Order: sequence, then structure tokens, then C-alpha cells
Amino acid sequence: MNAHTLRRCNWKFEELRPNIMGIDTVVPLLDGRHVPYVFLDNGASTPSFRHAFEIMGEFMPFYSGVHRGTGFKSILATQVYDEAHDIAGEFVGADLENNTVIFVKNTTEAVNKLAYRCDWREGDVVITTMMEHHSDDLPWRRHAKVVHVGVDDKGFLDMDELRAMFETHRGHVRFLAATGASNITGIVNPVHEMAALAHANDAYMFVDAAQLAPHRGIDVRPDDDPGHIDFIAYSAHKMYAPFGIGVLVGPKKFFAEGEPDMVGGGVVDLVETDFVAYSAPPAREEAGSPNVPGAVALAAAIHMLRRVGMDRIAAHEHQLVSYAIGKMKEVPGLRIFGPVEEHELGSKVGVISFDMEGVPHAKVAAILNAEGGIGVRNGCFCAHPYIKRLLQVDDDAAKELTDEILSGDRTNIPGMVRASFGCYNNHDDADRLVEMLHRIATGDFHGDYELHRRSGTYWPKDFDYDFSSSFPHFSFRPTTEITDFTEAS
Ligand SMILES: Cc1ncc(COP(=O)(O)O)c(C=O)c1O
Repeated sequence: MNAHTLRRCNWKFEELRPNIMGIDTVVPLLDGRHVPYVFLDNGASTPSFRHAFEIMGEFMPFYSGVHRGTGFKSILATQVYDEAHDIAGEFVGADLENNTVIFVKNTTEAVNKLAYRCDWREGDVVITTMMEHHSDDLPWRRHAKVVHVGVDDKGFLDMDELRAMFETHRGHVRFLAATGASNITGIVNPVHEMAALAHANDAYMFVDAAQLAPHRGIDVRPDDDPGHIDFIAYSAHKMYAPFGIGVLVGPKKFFAEGEPDMVGGGVVDLVETDFVAYSAPPAREEAGSPNVPGAVALAAAIHMLRRVGMDRIAAHEHQLVSYAIGKMKEVPGLRIFGPVEEHELGSKVGVISFDMEGVPHAKVAAILNAEGGIGVRNGCFCAHPYIKRLLQVDDDAAKELTDEILSGDRTNIPGMVRASFGCYNNHDDADRLVEMLHRIATGDFHGDYELHRRSGTYWPKDFDYDFSSSFPHFSFRPTTEITDFTEAS
């Protein structure tokens, strides 16, 4: 099995939508009606491709432990698992002679692993950006001094400042770590230009492709190309295979030396009571029994995306975002963050973050759900510095807010609402969103939304779900209490 032989079917663009599991799910509204759900939180996690799920299902009768078993099933599973690595590497154009593909849980684990595995020196610096998800910021802070390149008012990276930072920290920069696309504005960074800068300064380039991989074709370019991306990571749950696996690609030689971050079974060639010989990567970096079904599903999802064509997906999403933004601009009091002009939209993936004058972001999100059957996300999206910059929260206000939040009151927590589109969303989805936004902006909603101060969330009074009719397998506890706020992607 490889990317070309996984299944010789040519997926067509029109087949994407019916291939989405749950595309017809109907959800209850506050007024008792049931409507088809519009899912616009693909930036957090996408639904599964049916194809990925089915291929995983076809594999399951052969499921077995890999690498050490001698039976038929184990031999088959081992081949499948190993080839899934190749498929995940080919997806980003990696030269698999010199690079290894390591399976991890997700992008967060990939960055933590990479940061751990670097042979840091005293005074090392990592340049990252103000637009990073915390997952491409906090792991580096544990090992090196981290500096953040600024962004302009729209959220675009300040390339002049990046150049200046390389000058300021000349000789000390080990990594330039940047997101391929922002999870808030959708802005796509010029990663190859950035990589060339990094290499000219003897630094590695790492790209967090969590938000890029589902939306754009990626080519890390040959290893000797100045714009080559040295390391790249992405998550399967954001690209239609949500079964607990992520990918880290990087030079074999980088991982061939030193101690893996996690040790135990699977990472060694030999163990004496006083001696350990670690295996070559990727085994060296994948301690314990791996997620073989997740790897199969990822390979199948990649296969489907590639067969449809990442260019077609990018073109469709561009057209959809352009349509949605055009309509959203007509909603009174709605402010969109990031690029909104037609000529800028080519440098943005399908993520649209916004707020609405006079209506808290959490309340907008709650109404979209309870009265529109539309799933979005609100808050700070694990990128607090970027949100603060885009909302122009000054230091005094930020200090006051911090005190408030630490005292357990999130009433005034800054944030936005995010509608994030996937390859299968269509104009009807955008229309449903825009129609509800008009209703919210003009006060045409019916619920009495109560604020839960501790979580900063809103919920309509006297409304609760009966999940047992949707998913009868668990015995749900009755809940009128809104769960505590924990922030995710
Ligand atoms: C840009 C970006 N980087 C990293 C992550 C972390 O991804 P994961 O939760 O799969 O580790 C996310 C998640 O939303 C993201 O949007």
C-alpha cells in the first residue's frame, strides 16, 4: 500500500460532502425544532471522512500488534503501519531517504518532542511569532529563550522585524518556528521565504502545519533547497481522520542521536542492565504500542485528499471564504479580523474570526448554537498574544483582565467568534451562518441567555439537551450546570 495504490479510485470533489460522517445530523433548537447541523468548527477538529473510517474498519479484522509479532496479521499490520509513515511523509513532499516520519498523538506532542530532542546550547534562541498557537510557543520556552516576531494590525507577520531579529540574535538562533496558517485569521505565512532566512542564519525551520495541511498542498522542497522546511508537523484530527494520530517529519540524522523523549518498549535494539542501544528513527521516537488504526485512517484520508486534489480544495475554500466574507460584511456591527479584501483572500485559509458590537462573543456563539444549530467556537483559541494584539488590548487593560480572570470571573474575557470552514462546507452553510448573524445583530433571537461568570459562557435559561436520544450508549448525567471553562484550539 502507498499513496498511489491504497485504492485505485479517483475521488471527485463532489464526493467529499457525502463522504463526511455526520453531514446529515439533525440537532435540536431552543424552540423545539430540529435542523441539520452546520459544522463550522473544522479548525478545531474535522469530522471523519467515511472513506477513512471504512478503510480503518476493513483493516480491523487484521488488527494486531506491529513490529514484533510473527503471525500473518502482525506482518500485515506492520507493513500497513510502516507504509502509512511513507504516505504521511509523501503528503508534504518529504524526501524519505533522508527524512523520517514519526507518528505522535497530535501537533502539540510533535512540537514538544522536537523541542525536547534538540541539543540545546547555552544562549540558544528560538524565533517564533505572535500569531502562534500555544502549541508552537510553550514547548520551546522550556528549552530556550523564545522571541516573538510581531504582526501588523491585520495580523500579517512583520517580515522586516523577523530579519531584524536574526540580526539581533546572530549566531544564537537554533529554530525559526512558525505556523503555516493561523488558526485565528487563517493567514498563510511565507514559510519558504522564512526558511531561506533561517538557513542563511544557520537555523532550522519548523512549520506547524496543523491549520495548513487540511487546506493547501504542502511541499517541504528538496533538502538542499534554501527554502526547504526542515521539520513539519500536522494532526490527523484536523484532516478528516480523527483517530488520535499526528505526524512529525524531520531529518533522520537529527533523531538518530541522543535520548528519545519517551523510553520503554519499541525504541530499542538492545537492552542490558547497564546499557541501551536505541533503534533508528522513527522506532526510536515511538515508544510503546502505536496507534495502528489511526495510522490507517490517516493514510486513507490523505489518499482521498490527494485524489480530489489539494489545489481544488484550496480553490473551493477560497471561493467559499470570499462568498462568506462578502455576506458577513453586510451584517451590522460585525467586525472581521484578518484579511477581508478580495485581493488578500488568496493568502488565507478557511478561518474567519469576528466579533459583534454590543454582543459578547460567547453569547453570539451560544445563540448560533441554540437558535441556529450552528457549531462554531469562541474565545482566545489558544493564541492569547495574537488575540490581544488583534483586539488591541493594552497592557493596563490586560492586567485588569488577568486579575479578574484569576479571581474566577471571565465575564469580560476578550475573544472572538471563529467560523472555520472545511473542504466540504458549501454556500448553504455560509448562508445559514450569515442569516443567524443578521438575526443576532438585530436582536431577533428568543432565548434569555444567562452568563456563567466562572466559565464566561452563556446558556439559554431553562434549556437543556437530551443527549440520550442522540447517543443512547452512555447514561448521561442530567446537567444544568455549565462545565468549567477549559480552553482548546
Ligand atoms: C495552528 C495550530 N497549531 C497547533 C495546534 C495544536 O494541534 P493539536 O491540538 O492537534 O495538537 C492547533 C490546534 O488547533 C492549531 O490550530
